[in-house]
Amino acid sequence: LENGMALTPIMGWLHWERFTCNTDCYNDPDNCVSEKLFMQIADIMVTDGWKDAGYEYVCIDDCWLALTRDKEGRLQADPDRFPGGIKKLADYVHAKGLKLGIYQDVGNRTCAGYPGSYGHYDIDAQTFAEWEVDLLKFDGCNFINLDILVEGYKNMSRALINTGRNITFSCEWPLYLWPFQTPNYTDIREHCNQWRNSGDVFDSWKSVTGIIDWTANHQQLLVPFAGPGAWNDPDMLVIGNFGLSPDQQVSQMIIWAMMAAPLLMSNDLRYIDPKAKALLQNKNIIAISQDPLGKQGYKIASVNNFDVWERPLSGDRYAFAVTNRYELGGPRHFPIFMATVPGWRRCFPTCLIATVFPNYVELGEHSFLSQYKFTINPTGTVLFIVSIPPKTKLLNNL
Ligand code: GLA
Repeated sequence: LENGMALTPIMGWLHWERFTCNTDCYNDPDNCVSEKLFMQIADIMVTDGWKDAGYEYVCIDDCWLALTRDKEGRLQADPDRFPGGIKKLADYVHAKGLKLGIYQDVGNRTCAGYPGSYGHYDIDAQTFAEWEVDLLKFDGCNFINLDILVEGYKNMSRALINTGRNITFSCEWPLYLWPFQTPNYTDIREHCNQWRNSGDVFDSWKSVTGIIDWTANHQQLLVPFAGPGAWNDPDMLVIGNFGLSPDQQVSQMIIWAMMAAPLLMSNDLRYIDPKAKALLQNKNIIAISQDPLGKQGYKIASVNNFDVWERPLSGDRYAFAVTNRYELGGPRHFPIFMATVPGWRRCFPTCLIATVFPNYVELGEHSFLSQYKFTINPTGTVLFIVSIPPKTKLLNNL
């Protein structure tokens, strides 16, 4: 969607995977979906380096609404859990230099059963703009039929633009179409800044690899549609929670950066272990995620239980990531023969190689015939960048 938003994949925090539909503020006041939670997260995003690392959006997911609209037909937040209302929360978040995201649904009801936007697209867009919301995640549960689903997403996209406020539009339109038909991605990228294709992420390696493999299996269709203002969304980062080992957290972070995915964490920033925090704030991985060329990476090979991903970067560089998918035994060596990786064909006579993860190390010039070995833990990933030195560029242009 060409509304000037999400020129690189957005970064921020979204409550769903970690806090789900916890509305029990009586028994669980610190973890229920309430203004207090979002204010605390906003505070920490500023004090603990998240904002400086690039994380900007504080996003509310489902279960923020009151069960009914007000007398004028407008949406209202649950009065007990959001006593100040959304406008006050937006002011709070904006005062910290951050942005506020909110959630609604194209159908009659949200997935958790709260009032949906069907029949109210204009008034709801207007309400969000008046509250000074910066992002809308628009879910697709309880749609009337497929035509109305598609029309609903288009109508809400237009309604948001008509408000005159810059609002990033996050869709789930293709996810809900896939069971019935191949989505029209030309239409989707015209109306959305990002869109979910695959099912909800859970806090497990099985879920994360399921999403990675689904994306790789559909990459020929999906990758060409990604670019500034329009991104495929493989769902939230679950790094810092309970289900992923340290190596698996590394793999999610790196592959999400390779896929040019929105980096929306769903974790508890109030209590996060230092290793997960350092990973999520790793400048070199984030730089790949946010590369201004805006090309989505893709899997180029699965060999011997290693997955190899490539992402073209600005400045004639390529990022490569290799995941060890073999869940038996210890670390394994992955030999890279420079001449066999497609992007490296331009490395004649040499390329510059730098490892980015686990450590940033410049390895210098390598001839296209040389071989380099990486050691990768089971379910872990290494990341490196290949760039073309000026003299090679010169030769390439002869
Ligand atoms: C759907 C979405 C999730 C989340 C829930 C909320 O399942 O895909 O991301 O928003 O609804 O109910």
